Amino acid sequence: MKTEKLLSCEQCYKKNIKRAAEILKNGGIVAMPTETVYGLAASSYDDNAIGKVFAAKGRPQDNPLIVHISNMNMLSQVAKNIPERALLCAEKFWPGPLTMVLPKTEKTAKSVSAGLDTVAVRMPSHKVALDIIEAAELPLAAPSANTSGSPSPTTAKHVENDLDGKIDAIVFSDDCAVGVESTVITFCSNPPRLLRPGAVTAEALKKIIPDLVIDGAVLTEPEKNAKVESPGMKYKHYAPKTEAFLVEGNTKQFAKFVNAKQNAAAICFEEDSSLLKTPKIVYGNSQNESSLAHDVFSALRDIDKHHCERVYIHAPSKSGVGLAVYNRLLRASGFKVIKLPFIIGLTGPTGSGKSSLRAVAENNGFSVIDCDKIARLATVKGSAGLSALVKAFGNDILTTDNALNRKALAQKAFATKENTELLNKTILPFICELIHKEIEGLDRVILDAPTLFESGINSICNKTVAVLAAKETRLKRIMLRDSMDEVSALLRINAGKNDEFYKQNCDYIIYNNGTEKEFTEQFQKIIKEL
Ligand code: TXA
Ligand code: MG
Repeated sequence: MKTEKLLSCEQCYKKNIKRAAEILKNGGIVAMPTETVYGLAASSYDDNAIGKVFAAKGRPQDNPLIVHISNMNMLSQVAKNIPERALLCAEKFWPGPLTMVLPKTEKTAKSVSAGLDTVAVRMPSHKVALDIIEAAELPLAAPSANTSGSPSPTTAKHVENDLDGKIDAIVFSDDCAVGVESTVITFCSNPPRLLRPGAVTAEALKKIIPDLVIDGAVLTEPEKNAKVESPGMKYKHYAPKTEAFLVEGNTKQFAKFVNAKQNAAAICFEEDSSLLKTPKIVYGNSQNESSLAHDVFSALRDIDKHHCERVYIHAPSKSGVGLAVYNRLLRASGFKVIKLPFIIGLTGPTGSGKSSLRAVAENNGFSVIDCDKIARLATVKGSAGLSALVKAFGNDILTTDNALNRKALAQKAFATKENTELLNKTILPFICELIHKEIEGLDRVILDAPTLFESGINSICNKTVAVLAAKETRLKRIMLRDSMDEVSALLRINAGKNDEFYKQNCDYIIYNNGTEKEFTEQFQKIIKEL
């Protein structure tokens, strides 16, 4: 089939709208722009035309279509028994990206609703779409104009790539302003349910429908063979050919995580871009969810050109339009979500009572990792970490049976500032690798590291906290803890960093001079803030 290309430029606008309407009236199928994504339209009264839409897309027969109307008279032709609150939603959000599922009239073709007795209706706000519906004088059934399963089309080029030669015509226009498909809400259950999030946000809908329920399928994978309210939710959707994973975490965590991967690409935020060393596509700014919605499908389409084995997608927030973007990405990644833990680096000078924070942190849901222990693990006999150290400092840091001679290493490594730096730089990647293994799957982590900054471990932390205490208190603690005399304890204190160092480098300071209650409260205040 030869697909007619109809431009919507000023000179040819009227003629081409008329042509599109003519094709539709005669039972043909036409791709047209809407403010959300391009749709593939057919007369909603014509089972035969609807059949062509299913065939061109390769769409499963049990997935119903949305009927597009251009005025409220059409609504009563398509749907009946319309509840008051649906009319209020229409008044507030139409024309626009809201689809409402309502009881269906007889006039609408059976295949539109895939046999259900309900129909999904929306009034788009795109001028071209409205003009085509008006000219055809028909409510138009229109799913997204993509091959079923691939990302929805937000440009005419996307439609051409998927459907050229399979449909009667494509009406060309600008890229779609919203970028994700409409919000779908059903009034055929009580209370009404949000079936698919979109640019009309759950927050905005709740102003009219305070008891609105977010359907479980919005954020979780439906069980196999489970009955879902919106059939479209159960199908694999939007996935690029590259295996995709959705990654939750902040910029620093995301970049660290992705940079450590081989043969990987990223779909990321503007603010991640400069930190990433892998091939990447920026899909917007994390603070501007509409920008993410606008470019998410293009990014999913384009990422395959990098020919990487995997793509890691930085997950948006789930508020506002972010929920719609998250929902699509969840499907694009086959529900594979990686949650990067929130990491607090904990440090402080000797005797400050840093370790008493351990119990407090554990009581507040944190897992505590002892970085000294990890550092020892990173340099056990035969480890890659130890080989790297030998390469840097020579064979004489080994004992006769090829284990690490800590004293010998200390002598060399702490002889000059350069050597100390070399030590830290050499061993850091091995320590970080072990830490990452240890914290996989955890939600909140504290890295207990006396030399947090000197070692470079701070680079994988989201926030850093130091515990400080008055010198006299520390002196007493050290003498008691290590059975040390006052002079030696003082020497040790003076050899360490001073309070100023921690105040300059850490995000938060906790003072450990008073009662346990005061100490605990300071920590709890910090986690509340985070
Ligand atoms: O923004 C949009 O909604 C775009 C543009 C073209 O308007 N259209 C679109 O259509 O996204 P489609 O077919 O890709 O998605 C329609 C969604 C599917 O998830 C489908 O299962 C659901 O709406 N749906 C349609 N009729 C339904 C019904 N009677 N009950 C429940 N869900 C329904
Ligand atoms: Mg679709």
